Amino acid sequence: MKILSIETSCDDTGVTIMEASGGRTNATFKILAHALLSQIKLHIPFGGVYPALAKREHEKNLPILLEQVLKEAHLDKTVRQDLTVMKKPPVDLIAVTYGPGLEMCLWEGIVFAKKLAEKWNVPLIPVDHMEGHIFSVFGKKNKKNRGSFTVKKVKTPALSLLVSGGHTQLVLMNKWMEYKIIGETLDDAVGEAFDKVGRMLGLPYPGGPEISKLAETERTKEKQALEKSIPARSLSVPAGTALALDPSTYETPRSDYFSFALPRPMLHTKNFNFSYSGLKTAVLYMLQKLGPIETIPEDTKNKIALEFENAAIECLVYKTTKAVEKYNIKTLLVGGGVSCNTHLQRELTGVIGKKVKILFPQRELSGDNALMIGIAGYLQYMKNKRKVPNPETIKADGNLKLS
Ligand code: KG4
Ligand code: ZN
Repeated sequence: MKILSIETSCDDTGVTIMEASGGRTNATFKILAHALLSQIKLHIPFGGVYPALAKREHEKNLPILLEQVLKEAHLDKTVRQDLTVMKKPPVDLIAVTYGPGLEMCLWEGIVFAKKLAEKWNVPLIPVDHMEGHIFSVFGKKNKKNRGSFTVKKVKTPALSLLVSGGHTQLVLMNKWMEYKIIGETLDDAVGEAFDKVGRMLGLPYPGGPEISKLAETERTKEKQALEKSIPARSLSVPAGTALALDPSTYETPRSDYFSFALPRPMLHTKNFNFSYSGLKTAVLYMLQKLGPIETIPEDTKNKIALEFENAAIECLVYKTTKAVEKYNIKTLLVGGGVSCNTHLQRELTGVIGKKVKILFPQRELSGDNALMIGIAGYLQYMKNKRKVPNPETIKADGNLKLS
């Protein structure tokens, strides 16, 4: 069947069409068309997502992207952006994100999807954006936005680490498509902390990829400096594996070495929760002590970026490792914008990669997109034996939680 999926939860407008077949434990997808419009450039002057602007952009872009994907998928060559004159294309199911996210943005996607579903008389399935991120690890697309892939039930118990600008969660899946949030951030999300620290360091929005780039370069420099000054065997923790399960040995060698040490909030609490607001504030105080931002040498800023990334990622990897041990996890699925962070991928693979099968999304599918919404929509549709709710009952839920 052909599934049209729509994503508008934050600042990316996404519309994808896929041909899907199979059941909820073994489904095959073929991408027929995939469009994603990032609004990042428009939000840069605001230093973050400006919701009213994001909403307006979704409203403007949805009909344009719809026309584009229908043409690309060769479903209708004569489509017009005006829905009132658009003919029904051979689409069998529509999936739309209904939460979590910015409610005014979610509504744009929902209202648009409802109109199409009514006009074309096709079922409409509401999708949890976070379930989309979980399934994003299976997506495969090439540069021309084409590709085929399968989504197969993974070995359970499975765990999902969801890390984005709005979320930091550990989700337990004792069974395929059954979710229980076992830990989450008590304040800021990890991506949000990356973005805020990026802004403090004078980096463009979004700060995540910028900090990561600086940190990677600085890490290499530091490793070389350490190797020169200290014989490799005398390092207490080998470079690249800054993590150990015993908290007393759980220290990066670099922190003391460069005296820009930052805290690892909640690292040793006996739960799977996170906290990133204190870490962000610690960076702020550190920068304030060093004087006006323009006077801080680039080299110092790079070292702070590195220490911040080390601290932020250490908390994620440590808690994930603990959860993997406690629940005897067989598969780890990492999703969300931060999942493409090189240090996170390297540390997770280094620490638990031998014990657990770890799945990361393709870099281009780690952020928000409609492809992942199509996968989640189709699998939910199959799970619910092709039953969908009455479209009138579908509402945006900014604080939706996986359950
Ligand atoms: O999933 P996503 O595209 O949107 C949300 O649902 O939030 O995630 C965006 C977040 C931003 O905070 C961005 O800074 C962060 O993902 N991000 C990164 C990296 N690439 C994107 N954070 C750290 N390292 C990266 N390489
Ligand atoms: Zn997201």
